[in-house]
Amino acid sequence: MKKYYIQTFGCQSNKSDSERVAGDYEARGFIETKNWQDADEIVVNTCAIRQTAEDRARGFLYNVATYFQQQGKQKPKIILTGCMTHHGQEKLYEMMPMIDEILPINEVGFNSAVVRKDKKHAWVPISAGCNSFCTYCIVPYSRGREQSRPMEDILAEVEKLVKEGYSEITLLGQNVNSWGLEKEGIGLRKLMMRQERELSREEIPDNATQYEQPKGIPPFVQLLQEISKHDEIKVIRFITSNPWDFHDLLIDEIATNPKIDRFIHLPIQSGSNKVLYDMNRGYTKEHYRELVRKLREKIPDVVIGTDIIVGFPGETEEDFNETVEFAKEMNWKLGFVAQYSPRPGTASWRLYKDTIPQKEKKRRWEILDKIINKDNLSVRPHVV
Ligand code: SAH
Ligand code: SF4
Ligand code: F3S
Repeated sequence: MKKYYIQTFGCQSNKSDSERVAGDYEARGFIETKNWQDADEIVVNTCAIRQTAEDRARGFLYNVATYFQQQGKQKPKIILTGCMTHHGQEKLYEMMPMIDEILPINEVGFNSAVVRKDKKHAWVPISAGCNSFCTYCIVPYSRGREQSRPMEDILAEVEKLVKEGYSEITLLGQNVNSWGLEKEGIGLRKLMMRQERELSREEIPDNATQYEQPKGIPPFVQLLQEISKHDEIKVIRFITSNPWDFHDLLIDEIATNPKIDRFIHLPIQSGSNKVLYDMNRGYTKEHYRELVRKLREKIPDVVIGTDIIVGFPGETEEDFNETVEFAKEMNWKLGFVAQYSPRPGTASWRLYKDTIPQKEKKRRWEILDKIINKDNLSVRPHVV
């Protein structure tokens, strides 16, 4: 029997996609191998969020190619998928000549067969892509415009999971709060390309312009209520929630629905309003503070985690100190602190110079990581 091996980099969305790629292989009669050395086909599911993530995929591919060359063995078929595919075929084959095939990310369908390792907890994707215009981020380019998975498809998957004995699920999307509310339109890259000149920061639309305002109960809250109707489902988690569209009714739902996990991942990215504006996150520090106040008031046992980027272009010592002070004030229980990595093609890459030296980024990273992750919780929602 032919064997497949999948190497996954990046976030939970990628891990979830890999479960579906595995499902496809098994449907075609392949079996999984734990060693890439004896695979007939190797899939590399890539991440492009930072240069280090891309380097890791390239390093892995280099090791694979070298191994087979040194052994004098026939190289297995190598398939590249994931967020690096946005570079386009030509560049990918040039960067990584050992690749045999490129699997476009959108071809990993929501509803294909899934092979899950865990028998109790399951990842369930509820949307693909991202409609937000955070200036530093490659995701809207690599995964395209946001597309919510229809309610009936999500519920059908949950029903299937219940029958298989699952009791915990995590709903996945780049911005789950606005599930079902994304507008059609053009992405930031197309918007920039349409201009004869470069777009200025002021011309980049707010994230809120890319979604409908919910009328009544937000669809995401309705989805949580529908899933909660299954007695067999005991724990529901979701990532990621953005601060700008965290609806009051979502807070109420968490407060009154004991099935929803008390850990909320709420990325702040920076504690400086100037940097938040340059990032186009669509909220201020004050807005975030008020949201956390409400969450803690209505859900006394809530635990909040965050993501922060240090060394964003133009982040002064003062801006950074504001983030440090805010971290002390917020007392997040865990946080993923990242050093800014310019992603070619993104708005921040076009608009700003990567001014903060590597050494300084690292210094800022160490300070913040120490403050936030002092309790050293091992459960991190996503580690890239
Ligand atoms: N949709 C989620 C996060 C997606 S990416 C959200 O909006 O929160 C995961 C994390 O990677 C981000 O929260 C951010 O902290 C980090 N990140 C994204 N782009 C980055 C870049 N260019 N450099 C460094 N970190 C980045
Ligand atoms: Fe990136 Fe912003 Fe979308 Fe998150 S919400 S994936 S940071 S563009
Ligand atoms: Fe995830 Fe990396 Fe893509 S963080 S969405 S795999 S760029």
